[in-house]
Amino acid sequence: TTVALLFGGRSGEHGISCITAGGILAAIDRTRFDVVAIGITREGRWIHVSDDPADWTMVDGRAPEVVPEGDEVLLPSDRHRSGERTVLRAVRDGRLETLAEIDVVWPLLHGPYGEDGTVQGMLEMLDIPYVGSGVLASAASMDKAATKQMLRAAGIECAPGIVLHQDRYQGRAAQVLSHLKKHHPLPWFVKPARAGSSLGVSRVTDPSQLEAALATAFAEDPKVLVEEGVTAREIECGVLQGRDGGEPRTTLPGEVKVGHDLDFYDYEAKYFGKGTVSIDVPAGLPDALLEEAREVASRAFTAMGLEGLARVDMFVTADRRVLVNEVNTMPGFTPYSMFPVLWENMGLAYADLIADLIDQAVA
Ligand code: DAL
Ligand code: MG
Repeated sequence: TTVALLFGGRSGEHGISCITAGGILAAIDRTRFDVVAIGITREGRWIHVSDDPADWTMVDGRAPEVVPEGDEVLLPSDRHRSGERTVLRAVRDGRLETLAEIDVVWPLLHGPYGEDGTVQGMLEMLDIPYVGSGVLASAASMDKAATKQMLRAAGIECAPGIVLHQDRYQGRAAQVLSHLKKHHPLPWFVKPARAGSSLGVSRVTDPSQLEAALATAFAEDPKVLVEEGVTAREIECGVLQGRDGGEPRTTLPGEVKVGHDLDFYDYEAKYFGKGTVSIDVPAGLPDALLEEAREVASRAFTAMGLEGLARVDMFVTADRRVLVNEVNTMPGFTPYSMFPVLWENMGLAYADLIADLIDQAVA
């Protein structure tokens, strides 16, 4: 099986995607899978890049980046198809050449233009099998406002809050503020609707901080959520599509514990070692609550129409309610990332998890 790994991309999580690719390139079983590494630059150019994992690791605290050097990969189209495989072409020294014949694409991309249904739609148009969720589930899961609507419709609880659109917010700031003060107790989390890795997210503990928090969030996305900060423990559950149409498979949840030196689990805490963060796998919660969380994660997977994989992030309150915070259709996937660690804890090793996902996509 030949798999094209797509990584980098146009979102703010470009570097995280490259590190994820490095993890997979190092571990994928090369006796079973041939790999074609395709980096997408921040501008959106597709480049045939190195498949050496050493080229895709953090160096001196800097995430790797796809640069526009090397052969440009052309988007395949149906006329390039030969049988069941897809012929990828590249421009080499000004000439069109065949790069590889591929069976499946793994869009190892986080955030907009990758995790949001856009790449998935392109792959559907081209009739190329790919790892992970389809167009609607990817798009809906990328948008935290849409996610909450779909989850609530399925009876799954989410944090209360409001949605703001930048163009309509202008001139209504005072009204919005008084609505929030009246209906939503502090603290508030201000989040871009369609971003990941906590990019653009702020915690607001005083209404005077709202304007700055909104400016930060609107810089990422003209659609923003202001949510009540739920006092709860934060847990995450790994979900894989069921085998042969069966129920989704879930992991025991893990817990993210954030020290008092951090406001919340932000971008620097996630990737650059800021503050005290500890990860417990499994979460130290009573068995019944762990089981309930797995059930909620499985229901969320089904309600969103997800395929392949997802990491469902949840809150468990002191009065034992389980709320879904968000759903990630292409969660961080280095060997140290929560999703693979959760599966490792269930007895599914990293390389086997990679193989499981590719096998599901070509089946
Ligand atoms: N958005 C990051 C990669 C995650 O959810 O793991
Ligand atoms: Mg996320």
